[in-house]
Amino acid sequence: MIEQTFQQTFGALSETVVRAPGRVNLIGEHTDYNDGFVLPAAIDRTITYAGRRRADRRVRVYSEDFKASVEFDLDDIQKDSENTWSNFVRGVSKFLQADGHRLCGADIAFGGDVPLGAGLSSSAAVEVGATAFWNKLLGLGLDPVYIVKLSRRTENEFVGVPCGIMDQFISALGRRDHALFLDCRDLTYRHVPLRGDVKIVVCNSGVKRALAQSEYEVRLKQCQGAVAKIAATGRAVKSLRDVQLSDLDAAKGSMDNLLWRRAHHVVSENQRTLEAVKVLEAGDLERFGELMNQSHESLRDDYEVSSKELDQLVELARRQPGVLGARMTGAGFGGCTVNLVRTDAAESFAQAVARGYEKALGLKAEIYVSQASDGALVSA
Ligand code: GLA
Repeated sequence: MIEQTFQQTFGALSETVVRAPGRVNLIGEHTDYNDGFVLPAAIDRTITYAGRRRADRRVRVYSEDFKASVEFDLDDIQKDSENTWSNFVRGVSKFLQADGHRLCGADIAFGGDVPLGAGLSSSAAVEVGATAFWNKLLGLGLDPVYIVKLSRRTENEFVGVPCGIMDQFISALGRRDHALFLDCRDLTYRHVPLRGDVKIVVCNSGVKRALAQSEYEVRLKQCQGAVAKIAATGRAVKSLRDVQLSDLDAAKGSMDNLLWRRAHHVVSENQRTLEAVKVLEAGDLERFGELMNQSHESLRDDYEVSSKELDQLVELARRQPGVLGARMTGAGFGGCTVNLVRTDAAESFAQAVARGYEKALGLKAEIYVSQASDGALVSA
């Protein structure tokens, strides 16, 4: 328990505890930075913060996962190139103050069981946890969507990773037994109940997302490039969100095939996500699963962000009884797959996939039978 770690590290009881979960995305992949639609769920693995105020302007932070400490001054917050894990707390603290929120010194311990670099958004959990922690410790009364945006800003501008808004949003605002349908353009959202006897099973390929960041940036630029090409034909489009499949057909001659396929993934994924929400609300899990499967194919063939390991996990999954849908989740190039599996088949599914994966590739997959859980601001 992080409260105990806090006490051992700082010799006092903590005042405030905040939990921020990791996430899986059920469908709507690589759409958030194109102003599109996403449908993630928070999982029952969290990063927990425990801390207390200090009378001065010092912030001392202990990371349980890295077994390391840093200390910084609130009036001089710099990026740490050695203890990079501390940059999330540093960045959040810096931007809160830049926005006029008054912080005071604090002792903080944090850690948890969201696997690092596995594509389950441990970074978003660390950022949202830090922002929600300050909010609760100091009673700042921050608006939930402001907390989400500030956490993402930390990742983009302080840590330097050009992610969209999905991961921070779901870590803050996920709800138990629900997925969250988010329009990434205007940030309107609603929770969609995950009914029926199904489990979300996450298979961790064990391969860290090596290429993820550089290839992510390449995809981002390709999407912008495709928008520019379509806009040049006279269509009023600001992002791929504004593009229909018919526009893409019309634009086929005006852009190279690679750009076209990137755009085709995003435009078709938006459509799949809208349909997925509809069928989930109507209780049609079979169709929902088919859409997940199509999403994987599109990510693999058009967007080219899957990997041999992820494809193998998906292929194995689809052979198991009780599986409704299987796809890679998150940025890709390693990380995890998400599978929708009938509850009574979930355990045997997990065993069979792990066995098959080891046999096929000689690799161990960790499998988590997971439940959609509350976000940091819901459980706070
Ligand atoms: C990463 C990013 C998200 C999103 C996904 C792909 O998780 O942090 O913003 O773009 O990849 O859907």
